[in-house]
Amino acid sequence: MKTIIGNWKMHLGIRESIAHARGVLRSVMGHEVLPEIVICPSFTALSEVRKVLVRTRVALGAQTMGTERFGAFTGDVSVAQLDDAGCGFVIIGHSERRAMNGESDAVVNAKMKLIAQTSLVPILCVGESKESRVAGKAEEFVAQQLGAALRGVTLTKASRLVVAYEPIWAIDTGVSATPADAVAMHGVIREALRTIGVGAAVQVLYGGSVDGANAYSFLREPGIDGVLVGGASVKIHEFEAIVNAGRDVMIAQNV
Ligand code: PGA
Repeated sequence: MKTIIGNWKMHLGIRESIAHARGVLRSVMGHEVLPEIVICPSFTALSEVRKVLVRTRVALGAQTMGTERFGAFTGDVSVAQLDDAGCGFVIIGHSERRAMNGESDAVVNAKMKLIAQTSLVPILCVGESKESRVAGKAEEFVAQQLGAALRGVTLTKASRLVVAYEPIWAIDTGVSATPADAVAMHGVIREALRTIGVGAAVQVLYGGSVDGANAYSFLREPGIDGVLVGGASVKIHEFEAIVNAGRDVMIAQNV
C-alpha cells in the first residue's frame, strides 16, 4: 500500500475546497486498486469537506493542532476538536510551522503526547535545512528531531505513525530531493525509530516538490511508503497524476 497526502496549506476557500474534494473523488472513482489518500484542507473547510468525503475512500486530515486539551487558548484548535470535525490525521511539525509559528521540538513533542491518547494518526514532519545537508549533518539532524518528537510518547502496537521526510530546501522550491537521497534518509529514519523503540506501525513518506512528473520515481521505491504533497495537491490534474502513479506502482509491484 502507498499513501498519498495532500497538504492544501493556506489555499482554497470553502466553496473551492468542496469543489476540489469532489474533483479528487472523481479522479479515484471506479478504481479498485487505490493508494490510501488523505487530504488536509484549512480548518475553515474541514466540516464541509468532511461531508463530501463521507463513505468514500478518501480520508480527512488537519494541518496542525494546539498543544492543550481545551481551555483559554484563543485561536487554537485541539485534537479533540479535530476528531469531532472528522479528521483521522493531523500534520505535526511541518517545517513552515516550525519556522514561522514557533513550533519547537518541545511543542512537537507535546502534540505527539496528546495525539497518542486519541485515534488520530500523526503525520510527523522532519527534515534538514540546506546548511545542515551541505555540512554533512542531515542524518544526525533528522534522527535528533525524531528523538525529540517522540520522547516519552507511548505508541502501542495498535497505533500508527506516519513520518514525512521533508527536507526544507525541497519544500515549495521546485527542487525535490533525489529518490536515492530520500531512500537513504528513510533508512536512517527507520533505524532511529528502531533505536527509540517505537512499537507503532510506521510509514515513512517523502515530501518536497513532489508533482505529477516525479511522483512515480519516489513511489516505486520500496523504502518510500508514499508522498506528502503541497503545491501540486491543489492542482487537480497534478494530484490525479500523483494518485495514478501510486496506483501504477501498486499494480506493478502488487503492494
Ligand atoms: P510542496 O510542499 O509539495 O509544495 O513542496 C510539501 C509540503 O510542504 O508538505
